Parts: sequence; structure tokens; C-alpha cells
Amino acid sequence: MTDGMFRRRHERFLVPEEFNRNSPTVASLMPPEESGRWLLERMRRHLGAWSYRRWSLLDFGCGVRFTQAILNERLPIGEYAGVDCYGPMIEFLRTQVKDPRFTYRHLDVRNPMYNPAGEALGPQARLELPARHYDVACMFSVLTHQDPEDARQILALLRRHVRPRGRLFFTCFLDEAIPSFEDRSPERNAGRCFYNPGFLEDLVRASGWQVAGRFAAHAPLIGDSYACRPA
Ligand SMILES: C[S@@+](CC[C@H](N)C(=O)[O-])C[C@H]1O[C@@H](n2cnc3c(N)ncnc32)[C@H](O)[C@@H]1O
Repeated sequence: MTDGMFRRRHERFLVPEEFNRNSPTVASLMPPEESGRWLLERMRRHLGAWSYRRWSLLDFGCGVRFTQAILNERLPIGEYAGVDCYGPMIEFLRTQVKDPRFTYRHLDVRNPMYNPAGEALGPQARLELPARHYDVACMFSVLTHQDPEDARQILALLRRHVRPRGRLFFTCFLDEAIPSFEDRSPERNAGRCFYNPGFLEDLVRASGWQVAGRFAAHAPLIGDSYACRPA
């Protein structure tokens, strides 16, 4: 499909407000297209790539932001797979995004804040996506809402879908002063999860990854972040 065809068929990809998954602080500063572009660019630089034009990208806990940014800003990407536990939003994306580069999967797993009625995430969890296929897997503001066991399961799940020379990039909240993990949300529902960096890096290694880089937060757009490669 040429760029011209895209322009004629899809003027602008609009998302109902109920599917917005981003913090009110970031949403009030700039449109999702702008923060999405900024984050994709940030990830590209931290992964040391000159472009993401050819990437197959697996976006876990995808929300809608990267879809909006890629479609509405016409960002170049090879292939995009979005996974999320929010069924109605994934259904919306599956039915409304017509671009063949995009695929979406609903994963009905439990998260105390986002999907309390879902199934516990265990080693049996599967993504209906090709194994050892993706150049990059990413999680933006996802491990910030996971307890250590769920984080470990998700990291191990993603490992199966990234190709041997692929990469993982994720954001998190780090605090050297805590021994391991702390959920600082008032409801203790995984609303704001902090990790000790050494403890989190052990989880990363136990899930089949090695740490390739750690990067400081740039508030309010991005928390601390890690680049990893398959171990
Ligand atoms: C704060 S939002 C971030 C959305 C997107 N990554 C972004 O940066 O715009 C977190 C997303 O992760 C999803 N999520 C949280 N836990 C999940 C899990 N265990 N499995 C799949 N999706 C999950 C939520 O439904 C939500 O869409």
C-alpha cells in the first residue's frame, strides 16, 4: 500500500477516550501521537538502531498509543503486534486498524489493577504469535504495574517470541533504597510498582535475558528503562 492510498483511506485513526491508557499527566502535556513518537525514538536510540523502519515490534501491554503514533504520524515500521489484557480495546483495534502490518492479541491474564478477573499468569500462558520472530519486544509502563512473579512470567513469555539476535526494551520504577519490591499505590493493587535494580536484574536473568543497558528516567514521559538481549 502506498502512502497516498493510506492517506485517502484513513484520514486519521481516532480512538474513543475510553481506550486511552495513559497517565493524565502525560495526556495533558501532549497528544498520544507526540508522546508515542518520542518514546519510539527514545527506544530506538537506546537500542543503538539507526531506524525502526524494518523492525517487527512486539508491544506487550500495548494500549493504543503506538498504534495512534505510527498510523497518524506515518512512522515507518515493518510489523507491529500489540498484546493487552483489556479485551474491548483489543477488539476495537482488531476491527478498526486495517493496515496489514498490524496484529493484535488479547491475553486474558490477571492484573490486580487492569484485569482483576483474568486468569493467573503462569508458565502455561501462550501468545498466539510466531515464536523467535520479533526484532524487538517492548513494554512501556507495564512492569510499573506488575508484582515480581507476574513480571518474571511476562519476561519469560516474551523471550519465546524474540529472535535470537533480537532485543527487549522496558520501562520501570527503580529505587536503590528498597530491598526488593514495593507497591506504592494506596490500594496496593499494582498501581505503582517499584523495584530494587539488582532484584529486577535477577528477574530479567532468570527469564532468559541479559541486561545490555540501563537508562535514567526522563519525567514525566518515561521511567527508568532497560535494554536486554537474549542470554
Ligand atoms: C499504563 S498502560 C501503558 C500502555 C502503553 N504501553 C503505552 O505506553 O501507551 C499499561 C497497559 O498494560 C496493560 N497490561 C497490564 N498488565 C498486563 C498483563 N499482565 N498482560 C497484558 N497487558 C497488561 C494494561 O491493560 C494497559 O493497557
